[in-house]
Amino acid sequence: MAEEIDIKRVPQHIAIIMDGNGRWATERNKPRSYGHQAGVETVRRITSECTRLGVKYLTLYTFSTENWNRPSDEVAALMGLVLTSLEDEIFMKNDVRFRVIGDIGRLPEAVQKKLQETMEHTAKNTTMTMVIALSYSARWEITEATRRIAKQLQDKILTLDDITEETLSENMNTNFMPDPDLLIRTGGELRISNYLLWQLAYSELYFCDTYWPDFRENDLQQAIVSFQSRQRRFGKTETQVENENK
Ligand code: IPE
Ligand code: IPE
Ligand code: MG
Repeated sequence: MAEEIDIKRVPQHIAIIMDGNGRWATERNKPRSYGHQAGVETVRRITSECTRLGVKYLTLYTFSTENWNRPSDEVAALMGLVLTSLEDEIFMKNDVRFRVIGDIGRLPEAVQKKLQETMEHTAKNTTMTMVIALSYSARWEITEATRRIAKQLQDKILTLDDITEETLSENMNTNFMPDPDLLIRTGGELRISNYLLWQLAYSELYFCDTYWPDFRENDLQQAIVSFQSRQRRFGKTETQVENENK
């Protein structure tokens, strides 16, 4: 499979909805948290594979705003996992810079501290940026961006005519990276679940049934091969795009 990937056209930014941990565990008669634990191992593998392939940004949906409504023991288990699995060593070994997007203020203080430390320790790594979306939802993000822009209008820092698509992009949590080229969702559901609604406008979408704990390097490679087989037209015609690429 690896040899089918055109290494010159690897997506610059891959976003993933890591879904299926709970069902994976339930099928094994284990508690759901066992599936989340197994999912951490997949994060390690896929992060390392992305650096190997030359991906520059990897954005992982780790905990949504809506996930706060899960049973409190599952929420606690997930918070505990974030705390224990952010190991500097792994980021340093792969030369990966760590970032987080989301409503961080809602997280337990120990988690906030750990996130901050990991961001600081890895800030100078350049091979890839790994972003986790934590306590994140796109509608939350867009609402916050709207508030910030409205405040700048109120304070007369901006006028109505200043507001463009770029103004919105600059006020998103993701303003330090390009939009995803490829979105992958594991676990069989065909939905976006409030993830990166603004940024996914022209991303290629790839869905697979594999539960996240079972997702392997070759599954990622398959998603990239699918991505590379598509023509991204951004509204133009097939012929226009072919001529541009000559
Ligand atoms: C994804 O797996 C991880 C999180 C949402 C935290 P799920 O926990 O949603 O697993 P399923 O979808 O119930 O199998
Ligand atoms: C989306 O998965 C959120 C994450 C993967 C963190 P969910 O399992 O929460 O999504 P829904 O509820 O099935 O749409
Ligand atoms: Mg799920």
